Amino acid sequence: MKAMRCPSCHKALRLSERYPEGDEIESGKIVCEKGHRWAIDEGIPTMIYPKVNEKDEAWIRQYDDLAENYDEFLKTYDKWLGVDMMKERERAGLYVTMEGPVKVLDISVGTGANFVALFNAFRNEMGRFNLHGLDLSRGMLRVAKRKFKELDITVGLVNASVFNTPFQDNYFSLVLHSGGINTFSDKGRALEEMWRVAKPGGVVLVSDEGLSPEVRGSERGREILKTNALFGSKPPLQYVPQGARNLEVTYVMNGTFYQMAFGK
Ligand SMILES: C[S@@+](CC[C@H](N)C(=O)[O-])C[C@H]1O[C@@H](n2cnc3c(N)ncnc32)[C@H](O)[C@@H]1O
Ligand SMILES: [Zn+2]
Repeated sequence: MKAMRCPSCHKALRLSERYPEGDEIESGKIVCEKGHRWAIDEGIPTMIYPKVNEKDEAWIRQYDDLAENYDEFLKTYDKWLGVDMMKERERAGLYVTMEGPVKVLDISVGTGANFVALFNAFRNEMGRFNLHGLDLSRGMLRVAKRKFKELDITVGLVNASVFNTPFQDNYFSLVLHSGGINTFSDKGRALEEMWRVAKPGGVVLVSDEGLSPEVRGSERGREILKTNALFGSKPPLQYVPQGARNLEVTYVMNGTFYQMAFGK
């Protein structure tokens, strides 16, 4: 709760009543200093404000429907693109400090694959991490929650939109986002939010489908584009917030995903 703020007025939050210590809160209410109330259902608070537009809602309906099969679907990328996506996700670990506490937010956490990869890379040091995940799809969050429970990874999950995240300014050492920005209706706003919640000295790491210039010009690239036009996307550099430091663009996943990293 410490990381979180009311998405309506940005004031601090607390539980609306006392719950037994140590127990997970399956259903309840969170209230802000101004009295805005947010429901917790199935152990996950819903903090969507303001209402999302129809285009984003349509995507979310698709993700809700796909959620239980999403991981299987993503495995088809491994063979098709010649990658081991779970292994590649561990690269985010390069942006984790060698020691000390690390606060990480995964924006559009989906079914939790980035945190599972982090767990695979840092399984003996998980005590250093303070993990939070946000997604607009409850279906996806439900799968992530189940997975984290099985692995005994503690992650604060919240059902909210990237366009107005319920987190305080300058908080996270690492803000991750993978796989959603190409279809977000407002890429600039999404990157501004990631930037806002990163702390000074923190890093924002964003990746999504987008062929490297070399792959784009190759026969393999043309085949990929024929199957899925999203791979024609380019890193949205024009929306990187002013003041971002050390912007780096690289291509990962065998040259099929762009990755942008910038510091605050
Ligand atoms: C392709 S999935 C990627 C999931 C995960 N990050 C991964 O790498 O496997 C895209 C995710 O973006 C989420 N999403 C779409 N629009 C969103 C929004 N406006 N705010 C937050 N999440 C959103 C979807 O619900 C979905 O979980
Ligand atoms: Zn409020």
